Amino acid sequence: MTRGAFSRLGFILAAAGSAVGLGNIWRFPYLAGENGGAAFVIIYIICSFLICYPLMIGEVSIGRSTQTDAYGAYKGLGGKRWGLLGLYGILCGFLILSFYNVVAGWAFGYFVELVFGPLLAQRDKAQFFTDFTSSIGLNFVFSLGFMAATAFIVARGIAGGIEKANKIMMPALFVILLLIIGYALTLPRAMEGVRFYLIPQLSEVKLSTLYAAMGQAFFSLSLGMGGLITYGSYVSKQQSIARSSVLIAATDLSVALLAGLMVFPLVFSQGLSPSEGPPLVFIVLPEVFGAMGPVAGRFVGGAFFLLLCFAALTSTISLLEVPVTYFIDQHKQKRGMIAWVLALVIFVLGLPSMLSFGAVEFFTHLPFYGGKPALAFVTEIFSDVSLPLGGCLMSLFIVTRWKRANFNQEIRQGAPALAGSWLERFINLVLAYVAPPLLGALTVLLILEKIFGISPF
Ligand code: PHE
Repeated sequence: MTRGAFSRLGFILAAAGSAVGLGNIWRFPYLAGENGGAAFVIIYIICSFLICYPLMIGEVSIGRSTQTDAYGAYKGLGGKRWGLLGLYGILCGFLILSFYNVVAGWAFGYFVELVFGPLLAQRDKAQFFTDFTSSIGLNFVFSLGFMAATAFIVARGIAGGIEKANKIMMPALFVILLLIIGYALTLPRAMEGVRFYLIPQLSEVKLSTLYAAMGQAFFSLSLGMGGLITYGSYVSKQQSIARSSVLIAATDLSVALLAGLMVFPLVFSQGLSPSEGPPLVFIVLPEVFGAMGPVAGRFVGGAFFLLLCFAALTSTISLLEVPVTYFIDQHKQKRGMIAWVLALVIFVLGLPSMLSFGAVEFFTHLPFYGGKPALAFVTEIFSDVSLPLGGCLMSLFIVTRWKRANFNQEIRQGAPALAGSWLERFINLVLAYVAPPLLGALTVLLILEKIFGISPF
């Protein structure tokens, strides 16, 4: 049985699709809003290219060199013990999908409620958000629907499912994004939003801004949990990993930047506050759409939530593909069946997160972890802390176990000009000397902050 393979463009679109997600459209703008606008954006760009780009190349090349799942890849190159790092990634992917799908379900629900339901006319959008997120029925229907869409695509395979879906959704996403930006910029006071977004407020830059940007770059590029090992295992040896990775990182970055250019003018046009945190997209923007009136509001708001759904779906399929590839490669399971089974298991695993916004008191205020909601617990442990740790261990794996010579041999395949170039030396330098200490320190800081509530800065 063949494993399937991506075409050149297919891989770039699929990996960019994995990267572009709720992280870009939902999280990036509010983080920028909270952390001094443009100052955050600049640090974010630097982190993406100077640190995350080499790590992305590292992760994809581990997958391509072994042509197998995350566990098999680490085990094949480094022995059984390193295989554990692959399992760690698969576990993180499982749990990330479990909470990510909840928020994706909100995006789906908001699309339906805004276009066909009462959301636009609702007076109190904050109340609507509270009612929506605490409703067991609505959450159940929409997040199950989203998970089913994810399983449906993954079950159809690499070329016929994932690649095809990305080839439709990624261009559509760009078109919708540009249309909304075009419209947003014509609104009154839009330029105030642009200015807030593009003029750095250096006084807002603290060390915490730095690691917020770093963490966001990691999450946004889908690094550190074996997702890119998995997608990389379907890449041909003729493809230049370094070149494709530039395109993937650049696409991710442009969608994040464009998302800011869409969100801030919309928010400022109604004189609302940009630093609202997570509710920015689910409370502030619906207020903006509501103020546009029933027709424009339905169009622009509907387009916005459709965009959010596309972005999320191209990410959830990449998350589901990680364990699916593992079960196909290691346990000889049939793709069609295992995709649906795993989707169901992950959906069930996500129930605590889903019910942690008022639906069930136990999950809303956990009896441990400072009484935070279950969704925050899972997000902070399995994504915020675990991804930088995964990236740190991956770079250590490349330099200490796989060895630089083998790694270089892999990245030179499909890119002969890379041999001995400054780019290759730069990638090697970052993987050996920059990523391990930096990501190690970041992990420690994040553990202190998230788990022990100690913020040293
Ligand atoms: N990169 C995705 C986003 O920005 C999230 C993600 C993380 C997807 C890890 C896959 C793996 O929304």
